[in-house]
Amino acid sequence: MADVSMEKIVQLCKSRGFVFPSSEIYGGFAAVYDYGQLGVELANNIKSAWWKAMVQYRSDVVGLDSAIFMSPKVWEASGHVTGFSDPLAECKSCHARVRVDHLLEEIGVIADEKMSEEQINSLFTENMAKVACPKCGKHDFSPAKSFNLLVKANLGNFTNDLTREPVYLRGETCQGIYVNFANVLTSSRKRVPFGIAQIGKAFRNEITARQFVFRTREFEQMEMQYFTHPDQEMVEYERLRQLRWQYYLDLGIKAENLQWHKHENLVFYAKEAYDIEYRYPFGFTELEGVHARGDYDLTQHSKFSGTMLDYTDPVTNEKYTPHIIESSVGVGRTLLAVLVDAYTEEEVEGEVRVVLKLPKALAPMKIAVLPLSKKEELQGPANNILTSLKRNWMVDYDETQSIGKRYRRQDEIGTPYCVTVDFETLNDQAVTVRDRDTMAQERVAIVDLENYFKQKLA
Ligand code: GAP
Repeated sequence: MADVSMEKIVQLCKSRGFVFPSSEIYGGFAAVYDYGQLGVELANNIKSAWWKAMVQYRSDVVGLDSAIFMSPKVWEASGHVTGFSDPLAECKSCHARVRVDHLLEEIGVIADEKMSEEQINSLFTENMAKVACPKCGKHDFSPAKSFNLLVKANLGNFTNDLTREPVYLRGETCQGIYVNFANVLTSSRKRVPFGIAQIGKAFRNEITARQFVFRTREFEQMEMQYFTHPDQEMVEYERLRQLRWQYYLDLGIKAENLQWHKHENLVFYAKEAYDIEYRYPFGFTELEGVHARGDYDLTQHSKFSGTMLDYTDPVTNEKYTPHIIESSVGVGRTLLAVLVDAYTEEEVEGEVRVVLKLPKALAPMKIAVLPLSKKEELQGPANNILTSLKRNWMVDYDETQSIGKRYRRQDEIGTPYCVTVDFETLNDQAVTVRDRDTMAQERVAIVDLENYFKQKLA
């Protein structure tokens, strides 16, 4: 397990403005969260790092932003209307709804959401005495039933009849990529192999809403779908797996907190599926999925739409349906992993110093400007420095309480550098720059500050 508890992470997120429960003044709204003033910066930095790695630094991948609402036929073709479900059971004593695969996993029985209702129920009955209701602790449940996770809406239905065919909020962003395959192919003049990446919201009616932003009903996905020749699928798949592993190391995640998990129960069309797992405070579990999906997606959409989504090689004239490999990860799950990885408690002069040792590229605030006193003679130069640094970076400003307390506040939110404007500044036109990790301080001339941080934050 990670060294930090979930309670500490949740508390830090709430008190410092990373994550708030949704609609909190109304008592909250289960499994939905809002990102506060620091959370939105951290999430944006995570999305930007992903986009750079998956789109900007590559010449074989392009971006996309498809709509959340799509034709309901998309979800029929993809299999979500009939097959996108989790095994749900009810505690006969307190009526709590539980996810059976998760309960089984907790007692060490390998279960998978991809198992059939029959398979899950046979495992469930066999182990009923060992699984306890998380709410009341009893061991008596109804049989597991498959519960569809798609979230319905009434967009475009101008009657009051809500039983009419619903539209769905997308359950995953990749379907928008598949249905735009031909559009991107012809407008970008890309050749197979190539990929399409997008970041966007997805919605799932998750049965159990636990573990904070790890599993939510509204969340953001970062997905890249890579179209390959059938013979190259597994070669490209291995390459993608290595790339995605390296991506997390480059992001600053500690290698000892990552591991691969191979799926044994594959959906019928999948060739191979691995998860990259992170060591969250509740154990190693899925951060990202890397899947080899065969030709299932383009074949299904060709069949249901009547538009052939195939590809003709311009050199060999070979015509085929490209096979797809995908990398899929949630922004919230990454944000939680990044926070857990960075959370550090150190003893300094007999006190505990909480520091988020975030990689500089991800830190919500890069610099904090701290005038030693609220006196106008210091506020003037401090504000000038703030205005000038803000042109390049997110910069915080804090003039309340002692300088020691202000350093601690910046440590807790992971700000790499603090700039202290003191009375000496009025004489020497220089400031003290303090490093978050080493706590070392150095004097830097105000005129040199921009270049100094350009190097430090490069
Ligand atoms: N297109 C494939 C796909 O959606 P998935 O395993 O269902 O596969 C991929 O989801 C990733 O999306 C997960 O590894 C996780 O990071 C994120 N994710 C899925 N459901 C989530 C939820 N309810 N809350 C937060 N993130 C979620």
